[in-house]
Amino acid sequence: MSNLIIAGGSRLSGIIEIPGAKNAVLPVLAATLLNKGTSILENCPELDDVLTMLEILTALGCKYKWEGNRIEIDASNLTSSEIPELLAKRMRSSIIILGAVLARCGEVLVSYPGGCEIGMRPIDMHIKALEQMGAVVDGINQGMLKVTASKLQGCEILLDYPSVGATENIMLAATFAEGETIIRNAAKEPEIEDLQEFMKKMGVKVSGAGTGVIKIKGMKDIKCEVVHRIIPDRIVAGTYLAAAAATGGNLVITGVEYDHIGSIIYCLKRIGCIVKNYQGGVVTLETPGKLKALDLIRTSPYPGFPTDMQPQIVSLLSKCSGTSVVVETVFENRFRYTEQLLKLGADISVQGRAAIIRGVDKLKGAEVEARDLRGGAALIIAGLSAEGETKISGVNYIDRGYERIEEALQKVGANIRRVEG
Ligand code: UD1
Repeated sequence: MSNLIIAGGSRLSGIIEIPGAKNAVLPVLAATLLNKGTSILENCPELDDVLTMLEILTALGCKYKWEGNRIEIDASNLTSSEIPELLAKRMRSSIIILGAVLARCGEVLVSYPGGCEIGMRPIDMHIKALEQMGAVVDGINQGMLKVTASKLQGCEILLDYPSVGATENIMLAATFAEGETIIRNAAKEPEIEDLQEFMKKMGVKVSGAGTGVIKIKGMKDIKCEVVHRIIPDRIVAGTYLAAAAATGGNLVITGVEYDHIGSIIYCLKRIGCIVKNYQGGVVTLETPGKLKALDLIRTSPYPGFPTDMQPQIVSLLSKCSGTSVVVETVFENRFRYTEQLLKLGADISVQGRAAIIRGVDKLKGAEVEARDLRGGAALIIAGLSAEGETKISGVNYIDRGYERIEEALQKVGANIRRVEG
């Protein structure tokens, strides 16, 4: 088990290259199952969740080569439609593979994903949509999910909420369905657009990603060689910008899509940071002095402020002057990490879905535990801006979404190291 040890107080300064997006590469990896040819993915981040997804693909019969940031997948010969329980439990988002396996194999067996630190995370919308397409769903009560469909039927689906995972699952399931599938109230996240780009390269007639209505025309088979570059990780970009701001630093991030981080930059500007966008995916951040509180910010689906940046912004606001209110509308249980921030001296009270953050002059290093991915990133930000030493355990959660985070931060002047034990 590793821990991160941070000696706080160094201002971050320098350049960080932003890697490919975890939440884009996972559904695209699921989509490679539809291709009997070879899929080549570039700009893939080296993350534990990506490895778990590749292990799932291997269990289904795929072969893969992973060299640096390039992954090559051969899904010509699938031998199983069962997702091993251990792997499904390791990564809750393994549920996004449901639609692709069902489309390719006509059946899929997966253990029912449980809740996690940030909420119950039900999958009712995924199930309802697949049933609408003609799938038969069995065994939910036994903790296993068996979904079968000799043939899926294209249809109109109205999502109760623009769920990212449900939108992706339906897009993939619809690929081999008979006729057209229309998803209304679809999620608009950039990762959905990236999935659409990949599907188009495989020859799928899909349109509308990035809007609330996505249309997919079913086809018979896919066998092609496809090369696709994964979009940059907007949450990783936002995390490093927030870390720089919290330390009073100046940072340059490269390889980023400015529009994807528009809502994050809006907040950073409102608290006093100077953020500039340059051609070629370069964004700079300067912190001119003491930052000020943000009266109210609510998380919401894209293009709103992302729930995956909520902990990091709360951490940053804990040292801004004045009182900020952050309302979480996407996941019901996403403030648990604030208990850890209190140990560093933050003044945060949580009332239902709102966190009230009263800015303090300084944070003080402490021993804290990461219990989820973005909550863990929030602790790093707090540790970097605190006086003295912070020790963070539970680093395995952070590794799920950040590629060797300590190395990226060391390069821009952070005093952070990983120790085993
Ligand atoms: C994805 C992201 C995650 C991000 C989230 C919201 C991946 C791998 N993960 O997760 O990082 O935080 O989008 O931007 O891309 N819900 C239901 N029933 C369902 C499905 C969802 O009630 O069938 C609820 C969830 O509990 C949650 C909300 O809808 O409250 C949004 O969830 P969803 O958009 O589906 O998130 P994920 O796809 O799981």
